[in-house]
Amino acid sequence: IDQPNSITCKAMVAWEAGKDLVMEEVEVSPPQPHEIRVKVVCTSLCRTDITAWESQAIFPRIFGHEASGIVESVGKGVTEFVEGDHVLTVFTGECKTCKHCESGKSNMCQVLGLERRGVMHSDQRTRFSIKGKPVYHYCAVSSFSEYTVVHSGCAVKVSLQAPLEKICLLSCGVAAGLGAAWNVADISKGSTLVIFGLGTVGLAVAQGAKIRGASQIIGVDINPEKYEKAKAFGVTDFLNPNDCKEPIQQVIKRISGGGTDYSFECIGDTGMVTTALQSCCDGWGLTVTLGVPKVKPEITSHYSAFLSGKTLKGSLFGGWKPKSDLPSLVNKYMNQEIQIDEFITHNMPFEDINKAFSLMREGKCLRCVIHM
Ligand code: APR
Ligand code: ZN
Repeated sequence: IDQPNSITCKAMVAWEAGKDLVMEEVEVSPPQPHEIRVKVVCTSLCRTDITAWESQAIFPRIFGHEASGIVESVGKGVTEFVEGDHVLTVFTGECKTCKHCESGKSNMCQVLGLERRGVMHSDQRTRFSIKGKPVYHYCAVSSFSEYTVVHSGCAVKVSLQAPLEKICLLSCGVAAGLGAAWNVADISKGSTLVIFGLGTVGLAVAQGAKIRGASQIIGVDINPEKYEKAKAFGVTDFLNPNDCKEPIQQVIKRISGGGTDYSFECIGDTGMVTTALQSCCDGWGLTVTLGVPKVKPEITSHYSAFLSGKTLKGSLFGGWKPKSDLPSLVNKYMNQEIQIDEFITHNMPFEDINKAFSLMREGKCLRCVIHM
């Protein structure tokens, strides 16, 4: 068989922290063994792209990790994909053979987990270059490019019928929120919860809780514009900390009869983890973290929270094992058992990606879907 060649295509490259992305011609090398090259069809902008773009030091870099696409070519040893397959990319993979992949208790693949250095898992190198100089990856996905190379364990084959311009949201944010509600917290019927941060991630938790039959879903956000949208996803009570005269956890305790059964941190503010812990009830109160903090990674809490029986639980990608679990989530969407379309507030062409960055920083969007 002919080996695939390099491709020259357009990519939105970040050259410096916090500076507008620049459209560049990049070389995308052929997929190496166990990798696939994907023609990106749609990519949505997630808050974590912004957090990394604002605060990390690896440049030049191609961000983007919430995406859908079509397999263009496959590397040696790839048996699971052929050219033309539709895929979702995932920022945390599933090798299916490590201790965590074999365990029913974890989605923390030890081989294809979160990649933080901007290179590919297999050889610590990049598949992108400009004039021979490497351009770094993000989460081993880098979907802000017309073509990208990912490990075959970091892509999930999906039905050809599923609309790629919608299901790209299941590649990260929406799946993470639903999974936190269903897999991590395992919310039961009639229970109460509070969600800190009503972006896509927080509202996906609300949707998951509503589907499980929660009786009270309190949403906390400093942006009053989030309330209308939040109601549609099942939020029953809206609290803006800036409007409360007493600490927000006290208000939550009062309106939930002593604290909620669950609380979720969906902002990426470690101080809020403490507030979330204080907002759930003694005995069985469970706080789940979904946010990725930009500053101050440490969390602090008085040990009395734990003496009173509360639990603090972390999560990544809502506990889903991407390859094993995402196809069923796509089916749920196709059967109208979950909503995705309502999260898409904007659609735009690739060259307008910097607008999406501005909209998200200004709190004016849920998800912007970028069409390549
Ligand atoms: N108190 C309450 N709400 C806040 C605060 C605060 N101090 N700061 C920000 N928010 C709200 C914002 O107004 C926004 O509505 O949190 C919400 C965050 O939503 P998005 O920015 O849309 O982010 P999203 O994509 O939902 O991601 C949320 O999960 O995956 C991680 O990195 C991601 O940490 C981020 C979090
Ligand atoms: Zn694994």
